[in-house]
Amino acid sequence: MLSNRRILIGICGGVALYKACELIRLLKKGGAEVKAVLSTGAEKFAQPLLFSALTGEKTYTNADFFLSSGSIPHIELARWPEVILILPATASFLSKLRCGQASELLLALLLATRAPVYLFPSMNTAMLEHPATQENLKVLRSYGYFVYEASEGELACGEEGKGRLPEPEEIFELVKAHFKEKDFLGKKILITGGPTREYLDQVRYLTNASSGKTALFFLKEAYYRGGEVYLIWGGGDIKESLPRLDYTHGIPYPKIIPVSTTEEMYKKAKEIFPQVDVAIFSAAPCDFRPKNPYPGKIKKREELLLSFELTPDIAKNLSREKTRQITVGFALEERESLRDYALLKKKEKAFDLLIANPVETIGKDASDYLIIGPNFEKEYMSLSKRELAKNVFDLILQLL
Ligand SMILES: Cc1cc2nc3c(=O)[nH]c(=O)nc-3n(C[C@H](O)[C@H](O)[C@H](O)COP(=O)(O)O)c2cc1C
Repeated sequence: MLSNRRILIGICGGVALYKACELIRLLKKGGAEVKAVLSTGAEKFAQPLLFSALTGEKTYTNADFFLSSGSIPHIELARWPEVILILPATASFLSKLRCGQASELLLALLLATRAPVYLFPSMNTAMLEHPATQENLKVLRSYGYFVYEASEGELACGEEGKGRLPEPEEIFELVKAHFKEKDFLGKKILITGGPTREYLDQVRYLTNASSGKTALFFLKEAYYRGGEVYLIWGGGDIKESLPRLDYTHGIPYPKIIPVSTTEEMYKKAKEIFPQVDVAIFSAAPCDFRPKNPYPGKIKKREELLLSFELTPDIAKNLSREKTRQITVGFALEERESLRDYALLKKKEKAFDLLIANPVETIGKDASDYLIIGPNFEKEYMSLSKRELAKNVFDLILQLL
């Protein structure tokens, strides 16, 4: 996927630079060419030899800035990469970059480059929250740098809080996303995700075990391919699962619309549906709701009888109203009856694409899928949710 992509990693003076080693390993495994440049601070933490061994290339330090060989390293290094990652971006380095300093090799090459630059701030929480750092990040964003928000958790200083460098796998995912073709640019995509809640009384509710993970993989795939995403979300807190960039390449950040009941999800979806090009109904809304929810709290008693009524079928109602939208639905069924049921559901609910998977694979990382389109059927064995999202968007693109 990253075959021959040219990636420059600028490494600054923070303990988290150890994560750059694993990231380089992942990038190299993915086929990328990687060069590392150390800031003056980073040189105090690690020897260039470490990064040379991992990249298979010369690692540049400030000693390479002023050479008498006739080459101009900061310009050559500025022209070489397709993308630059700065990690951990220290408070000190961010402040120098904000001011346009070019007093060391890494700063000078950043000033001279036309490649997109991602900054990964990483530091103690108080340092990160300091108005000077926040102001620097704001200004750097306005210069066009992509700032990837720090994670929360245990920090090198022993404190807990925001300021952790994201894990190498997460940064690797972002790099892959960066190189994804933006083939959904200008397209609006509605995704429903998570379970819904139907209240029996003021405090108790009926719900289901849906994690909403599938919807989140669809959201990332759509966003990273340039789509403008609306996620109507019935699940819990998803902040940590969302893409950590507030913009990439000018693509609007996904709009998250939290809802509670199936009725609310239906109302919001109905509002947004006419504006979109694609609708993916990946939520697991409750099919039933109590006929007469109790206004207070039901007292403990020997027996409780409740009667339920059907909630609106969001996917069916909207898909049947479609004008130009491509609609995608899901079916979870016993393996033996999977295809028959899926064909029936696709027809009944007027989906353009139906994604069916067998019940026994629920909760597993990978599942078998049968995808039925207008004039094709495709079977996939042991597909992760991320791979599923990629394949489905490839199919949607063909239909669009
Ligand atoms: C042990 C140690 C850990 C440090 N960790 C960080 C850090 O995580 N983030 C940060 O912004 N600064 C950190 N610093 C401070 C930077 O190393 C210092 O500001 C340095 O000048 C940064 O160099 P640079 O601008 O080349 O990155 C740390 C310092 C020490 C001594």
